[in-house]
Amino acid sequence: MLDELNRKFGLDSRLVFSAHASGLIVADVNTPACQARFFLHGAHLASFRPKSEDEDLIFMSAEAVYEQGKPIRGGVPICFPWFGAHPTDASEPAHGLVRSVAWEMLSSEVADGAVMVRLGLTTDPWRLVYELRFGRALRMAMTVENISTAIQVGELALHTYFDLQDASRAQILGLEQVGYRDQLTGTDIAATGNPIVFDQETDRVYFGAVGEIVIDDVARGRKLRVQPVNSESSVVWNPWVAKSERMADFGNEEYHRMCCVETARIGHNRISIEAGESETVTVTISTQESLQA
Ligand code: BG6
Repeated sequence: MLDELNRKFGLDSRLVFSAHASGLIVADVNTPACQARFFLHGAHLASFRPKSEDEDLIFMSAEAVYEQGKPIRGGVPICFPWFGAHPTDASEPAHGLVRSVAWEMLSSEVADGAVMVRLGLTTDPWRLVYELRFGRALRMAMTVENISTAIQVGELALHTYFDLQDASRAQILGLEQVGYRDQLTGTDIAATGNPIVFDQETDRVYFGAVGEIVIDDVARGRKLRVQPVNSESSVVWNPWVAKSERMADFGNEEYHRMCCVETARIGHNRISIEAGESETVTVTISTQESLQA
């Protein structure tokens, strides 16, 4: 399996497949512009560091579990075709099925110095193709195709965990003019006009298209740029103290070191596609320095 993956999709030292300590297959990307890592399990992006940066842009939990059938805590889990609890069946796993199963490699290439890979998964009535472009920025593009003969609806989130020096000093800019649903109280809150700060458990779905979201990691002196395209919902999440303690695969103190800003299509902004049609949701992640390097 590994030999075949490396023969078919390996790109010299720029893209190498190996067995992770857990037995899952992992791919390491190494180019003059960046280092990155993803698992075939869940098509899970686990690391992205432009060479201009000392620290990863992506947070992974030290307590993450790497096992068939389970999601990995940290990185970029893909939530699809539902977000959060299943709408009607409480026995179904949170955030859908595709983050907990192996995806297949479809292609790999070097284009303009960047490594580009495509991973695929068919889960009736959907065909998913996930394109990752590893350059000075990271671009993640999810194409969802309806392969059935009827209209289909689905929710999607690229559930990105960002690495922070200190969440309690971080600020999120770009969602000031967007209203949100507070998932903790179930209430709808009008746009506040203020940047988001973390001083308690935060779990919000912002509804509306946004141009750019900036995560200002003040303690580290680094601004992370998140540029969504065709995403009409953004989730902002930090579990803070009590929820961190309840999560078995997350360290009690790790909430200081991360926040999630998710590129999504949720609730009334969910994806709705006619038979045979497809739609693509994209997000590009970078720092000012990585783009100037
Ligand atoms: C966020 C949700 O996107 O994911 C939260 O808004 C949830 O409600 C969090 O707790 C983590 O979910 P999970 O299933 O990975 O533990």
